[in-house]
Amino acid sequence: MDREQLLDIARREMAQQVSHQEREPGWVLRHGSGTARLALELRKALLPADGDIDDTLYAAALFHDCGKYADAHQAHAQAGSQRARQLLAGVVQAQELDVICHAILVHDKRKAQPYTQLEYLLQDADILDHMGSIEIWLNFNYSARTGRDAAFSAEFYESREFRDMTDMNRSLLNYSQSVIAFQEKLEFALLFAERFRRECDGRLDYLVAHRQ
Ligand SMILES: [Fe+2]
Ligand SMILES: [Fe+2]
Repeated sequence: MDREQLLDIARREMAQQVSHQEREPGWVLRHGSGTARLALELRKALLPADGDIDDTLYAAALFHDCGKYADAHQAHAQAGSQRARQLLAGVVQAQELDVICHAILVHDKRKAQPYTQLEYLLQDADILDHMGSIEIWLNFNYSARTGRDAAFSAEFYESREFRDMTDMNRSLLNYSQSVIAFQEKLEFALLFAERFRRECDGRLDYLVAHRQ
């Protein structure tokens, strides 16, 4: 499987795709390629002997949200599975295509049934690609696109909504190592949020504290 060819197809399909009203066009392309790389990183760390799944894992992760449209009525995993089948027919072997399309179909149905390792890896990489510095981008982008100010972004990290969302996403992870990675990313976001809040308020005390 030629990953450059897959990326070309992904760029043509998703570079201008509007998946959410409050996110930039092409979010799913960046998110898809980020999730694909993350999934390979997880596979190497968790299942070092299973490199033979890398090509199908990469393809499934790259296209996992290709069915996501802000104005869609069909469930995005189902739409994405169908669209990936069209996009990748003749590009990958028929058996690989079935694996890819099924992984896309179940990527958001976490904890619903036993899945393959490939499907677990994709599910975890998808969640991890929403946390850490990417989460800060999502937060700021949302605030800017909906006419909110900096304080709105800062307060989000102190909100019940953020805590609930974080708890839910963490509970949906399949591997304990994914939970560790998620927690590290969360702690970075919270550290950033604390400083952001202080800088928004014109404070320098965090600098003074660091000098002592
Ligand atoms: Fe999704
Ligand atoms: Fe996703």
